[in-house]
Amino acid sequence: MKDIVAIVLAAGRGTRMKSKIPKVLHNILGKPIILHILDSLGEAGLTDIVTVTGYGSSLLKEVTKGTKIIVQKKLLGSADAVITVKKALGRYSQNVLIICGDTPLIRSNTIKNVIEKHKTSKASLTLLTARLKDPRGYGRIVRTDNAKISRIVEETEASLYEEVINEVNAGVYCFKSKSLFEALSEISAENKKKEFFLTDTVGILHKKGEDIESVLAEDSREIIGVNTRKDLAEATRILKDSVLEAVMSNGVTIEDPTSTTIYTDVRIGQDTVICPYTVIESKVDIGKNCRIGPFAHIRSDVHIGDNVEIGNFVELVRTTVEDGAKIKHHTYLGDALIGKRVNVGAGTITANFDGKNKNKTIIEDGASIGVGAILIAPVRIGQGAILGAGCVVLKNHNVPKGATVVGLPARVIKKNKRGDKR
Ligand code: UD1
Ligand code: CA
Repeated sequence: MKDIVAIVLAAGRGTRMKSKIPKVLHNILGKPIILHILDSLGEAGLTDIVTVTGYGSSLLKEVTKGTKIIVQKKLLGSADAVITVKKALGRYSQNVLIICGDTPLIRSNTIKNVIEKHKTSKASLTLLTARLKDPRGYGRIVRTDNAKISRIVEETEASLYEEVINEVNAGVYCFKSKSLFEALSEISAENKKKEFFLTDTVGILHKKGEDIESVLAEDSREIIGVNTRKDLAEATRILKDSVLEAVMSNGVTIEDPTSTTIYTDVRIGQDTVICPYTVIESKVDIGKNCRIGPFAHIRSDVHIGDNVEIGNFVELVRTTVEDGAKIKHHTYLGDALIGKRVNVGAGTITANFDGKNKNKTIIEDGASIGVGAILIAPVRIGQGAILGAGCVVLKNHNVPKGATVVGLPARVIKKNKRGDKR
């Protein structure tokens, strides 16, 4: 979108988090808060994004690298943050979308709706609002008798009458640039916090007779602002629930949703069953008719085929498991390729890290790995090979196709040239 620039406000320290890490770098399902927002903005079609950083700005460089970073030197409030951007923008776009950097669950569709309404209504400002049973902690939307938005009152400034308003400011604003910067020039810090509130632009525009529109969030849970560790846990729970709902609606059984965590970028095939206390992290895909868990830890970059069984206390990372393989008890497989119908015995471990590099273990189709085997990578186990219980296969000591090996170090006790026909 060429006619709109997005500004993400992420300079605040997040004092209420009681953390040395900038608030927006705390993770929700393995992804920093700010990345959730940047991803949604990207999905909504916004390409021109400015991030305002301040506290811990050097730590934010990596995650915000696809955006223009502006540093707010003194944290004088959200209005001051936007003024800082103005100086750096020079020639700015027709419209400005502003979003608080601590609202990780705002969906791209909601952002699109706000922009759409803003453009069709030709308002000076379009706000995203939500109705909450408990509005505490949010700025309240004050409306006139004919339901026009007249201002936003921050909780610290609200009267008893205003405190009970349950329509709140979600922290997403779409302004006409000219209206925004004119209103900002009139803002003062005459409030209890002595901060320049961006929300005061609303009252200023209303007094000037400019049109202010709003979009009500369909699902009020998506507007949560993360200010405390409790909010972080709540946001995680909301996102977790929505991921699990989506997974289940695709025909996957989640036996115990409360003890199951699945990250947002996971794909799971039909009729797979996820048993309790299972954690599935990012960039994972799992095929059809699998059984995973209980107590399985599927870390990132794992690809699992169809009809695979992964049982309790199995940890997988950067690993591919092909159709019909079984890895059922107490196993760690890292940087591995597990072929079709391989059986991995209880307690099998890949020693994938030699202190410097992560090395690969390849177990070809139909091999059978005895209980307690240790595979020191890099190593390849040939098709249909049999590894005896407790054997240690040394690095680069590949096991030939169809062979049987035992011991420490593992040695061949039986050759079988026919391989898989054992
Ligand atoms: C803010 C809104 C409130 C709204 C809520 C939604 C203001 C004044 N209030 O309240 O109406 O309901 O968000 O979640 O905006 N920031 C800067 N520089 C600063 C100060 C803040 O970049 O100098 C950034 C923060 O990093 C944060 C955002 O602005 O991402 C909002 O600041 P925060 O202190 O979290 O405001 P709230 O009290 O939550
Ligand atoms: Ca906040």
